[in-house]
Amino acid sequence: MNKEVLLQNQKSWDSMADTWFGTTALPVYGCLAPTEAQLQLFPDLGDKKILDIGCGSGHSLKWCGDNGASELWGIDISAKQIQNADKYLAENGYKATLSVSPMEEMETLPKNYFDVIYSIYALGWTVDLPKTIKNIYDCLKRGGTLIFSWDHPLMHCVTAREQKFFLEGCNYLSDEMVSFELRGNPVTIQNRKMSTWINTLAEENFKIEKVIEETSQDVLEKEYEFSESYYAPSRAKVMPLSFIVKATKM
Ligand SMILES: C[S@@+](CC[C@H](N)C(=O)[O-])C[C@H]1O[C@@H](n2cnc3c(N)ncnc32)[C@H](O)[C@@H]1O
Repeated sequence: MNKEVLLQNQKSWDSMADTWFGTTALPVYGCLAPTEAQLQLFPDLGDKKILDIGCGSGHSLKWCGDNGASELWGIDISAKQIQNADKYLAENGYKATLSVSPMEEMETLPKNYFDVIYSIYALGWTVDLPKTIKNIYDCLKRGGTLIFSWDHPLMHCVTAREQKFFLEGCNYLSDEMVSFELRGNPVTIQNRKMSTWINTLAEENFKIEKVIEETSQDVLEKEYEFSESYYAPSRAKVMPLSFIVKATKM
């Protein structure tokens, strides 16, 4: 496991935690993607035990609580995010079991316990995808559900300029590590192919229920000025910005 990258990302998430308060949270899966209200991927949460991987500020956990979940659990590598989530959930009347933990090391969490484990724009931060998927598998009950969203793999490869999109700046055939600045903080992530995601789930004996590669219908129906920005609606009209997976523990 690349502990150096983990440490760097942890420090960066601690320093930018306050600027990500509720930024990517259920019922939203990702920028300009269909929402949970449209997709209906979650089972009825009534009386269900839920774990959020990379829970950030806790807004998704609050959504689960609002929808009847009986137990709210969350992990995040950033102590500052966990502190914010703890406060936010308590202010909204929820008691959650939160821990500062990388998703690559979930040994302290109960096994065969959760009905639903989900991750909204956090799973892609893992430095060890097979280990993380195994951890999730171990913590889920048999028949339990995993749902996650992340940047669509095409996002790393497509550049926008001069009113056009170009396939450049990345080698899609290799799952390369990339380092860049996020809100002024150094971070490193691995660009994974769609097949890497799907094959890793299959190797851990998950059954893939659904893969969503879509832009929200209301965005598709509108006209937008061309923009070069990463999450621009003009880009979302020709490619999905996010992908979402629903899988079941067999
Ligand atoms: C884009 S935010 C997700 C926000 C969150 N879904 C919410 O509802 O507010 C990504 C989160 O992943 C966390 N993270 C990054 N690397 C991680 C790792 N290796 N293990 C656990 N959490 C990690 C970050 O600290 C951050 O809170």
